[in-house]
Amino acid sequence: MPKLIITIDGPAGSGKSTTARLLAEKIGAAFLDTGAMYRAVTVAAMRSQLDLGNVETVEKLIDSADFKFEITNNQMAVKINNKDITEQIRDPKVTENVRFIASQPSLRSRLVKMQQNFAQKYQKIVTEGRDQGTVVFPDADYKFFLTADSARRTKRRAEELTEKGLKVDLTKLRKEIEIRDAADKNRNTGPLVPAKDAVIIDNTNLTLEQTVNEILKIINKNS
Ligand code: DC
Repeated sequence: MPKLIITIDGPAGSGKSTTARLLAEKIGAAFLDTGAMYRAVTVAAMRSQLDLGNVETVEKLIDSADFKFEITNNQMAVKINNKDITEQIRDPKVTENVRFIASQPSLRSRLVKMQQNFAQKYQKIVTEGRDQGTVVFPDADYKFFLTADSARRTKRRAEELTEKGLKVDLTKLRKEIEIRDAADKNRNTGPLVPAKDAVIIDNTNLTLEQTVNEILKIINKNS
């Protein structure tokens, strides 16, 4: 069992991944990008040309495939059956399809176990997603919920995609983010909601460093 668990939840573009990575680096902890797990299952199902709405076939896939999640170069490297798919999981088509996996309770419960097993390997972990403080690690030492207005979140996602050389239609991207937010908030299992004991940080006007410093202030005050 890790000695220190910090959860960071929040919607797309709230800066969870970059915040979790930098925070983990500063405090010498491992980090877990749980969205990468949902994305990996989506890639595996798409590659096997499964009907993503057919829960049983996706359950079998999760149970039989060998998913590996490793931290290398401060990034989560993802492999299915020893094939590296770290780049592919960020493909916009995967982003669009991930909701089929994220909305199914029996698939979520498998991913929750994967996340808890991953954390077991480390003494300190910063884990980010949608349900880390509510479902996966309800007894975490510190819980944070990041948020930002949707225009700012769209801008951040657009910058990420542009950096990768992808073309961005801002209006379309904002709509996609809003659709994903609604799906994440409204599902019955593991919805996007702050844990009752989470500290909510609105980082619309904060830089990455400032967001991490806010978190560090709270951790240092209590340790
Ligand atoms: O954080 P991200 O954009 O990489 O996450 C991809 C999708 O996975 C997102 O639309 C919601 C889902 N997800 C989830 O349901 N629960 C998590 N703990 C992490 C991600």
